[in-house]
Amino acid sequence: MNWSDEWRKLVLGSSLRKKGDPFTSGEFVEWYDLQLEHNNYPGVLLDKVQRHLNKHSTVLDIGAGTGAFALPLARLVKAVTAVEPSVEMLTCLRRKMDTTNIRIINKRWEDVGIEEISRHDMVLAAHSLYGTVDIETALKKMLSATKTQVCLVIGVGPVDFYADIWRRFRAEEYHPPPSFIHLYNVLYQLGIAANVEMVKVSRNQVYLNIEQAVKRWQTRLDLRPEREDELREYLLSCLEEKEGVLYRKEEGKSAIISVELPV
Ligand SMILES: C[S@@+](CC[C@H](N)C(=O)[O-])C[C@H]1O[C@@H](n2cnc3c(N)ncnc32)[C@H](O)[C@@H]1O
Repeated sequence: MNWSDEWRKLVLGSSLRKKGDPFTSGEFVEWYDLQLEHNNYPGVLLDKVQRHLNKHSTVLDIGAGTGAFALPLARLVKAVTAVEPSVEMLTCLRRKMDTTNIRIINKRWEDVGIEEISRHDMVLAAHSLYGTVDIETALKKMLSATKTQVCLVIGVGPVDFYADIWRRFRAEEYHPPPSFIHLYNVLYQLGIAANVEMVKVSRNQVYLNIEQAVKRWQTRLDLRPEREDELREYLLSCLEEKEGVLYRKEEGKSAIISVELPV
């Protein structure tokens, strides 16, 4: 099996990809940030990622999003470069920025010229590779952009809720994007036996109210307005009220895959 080809197939066939890029919607970004808050994210993942960093380090954060890693790391290290294609995600990151040592590059990683960036102590990509078609080229570029370490945070296995709601409302199988095992094997076929650490994480879904939940899933599923009541009823049956928000508890695992360069 060629794992890079397998990765490409999963990216291109992913049910989520077919519904377009959610990160360019202001509403989605707001909702995304709400999830981070209610899932104690990045929590333990951040503790583990920052273990080898100090005040002299530099970090290149690929797919920095709203700054879950970039912001706390910037308080710890000398400088952070945040690569992020979504203007909407960056607006949120900039709003929360409380240091002056973050350089922002508003591009996809694929479009960043290697001459635009110096080599960083750590290259980090947290949950940002699910849409990268040419994973081998992206990984090789990450390796050439670091002095010591590439650190990849990625989900382990599919989320049951997605499979269920997809079957129910789209009458089709849900095709998840690639996950940990694919990325590990792509690296392995490149001759890299990476280190892996599994971390238990919460994947709770949180909504401010039922209307937000309905809107989010109607867009995600590309559902006709006539089915809105059915969707509302289903979501109400899955969500519980807790501390003023609607909530669905779910637990999972994320993997931290790290590649250390020889010193
Ligand atoms: C799930 S979010 C993760 C954000 C952040 N790393 C975190 O852990 O919260 C994925 C982010 O990756 C970005 N992204 C997607 N494709 C990318 C690419 N080709 N290059 C760089 N960033 C990308 C998206 O715009 C989005 O902000």
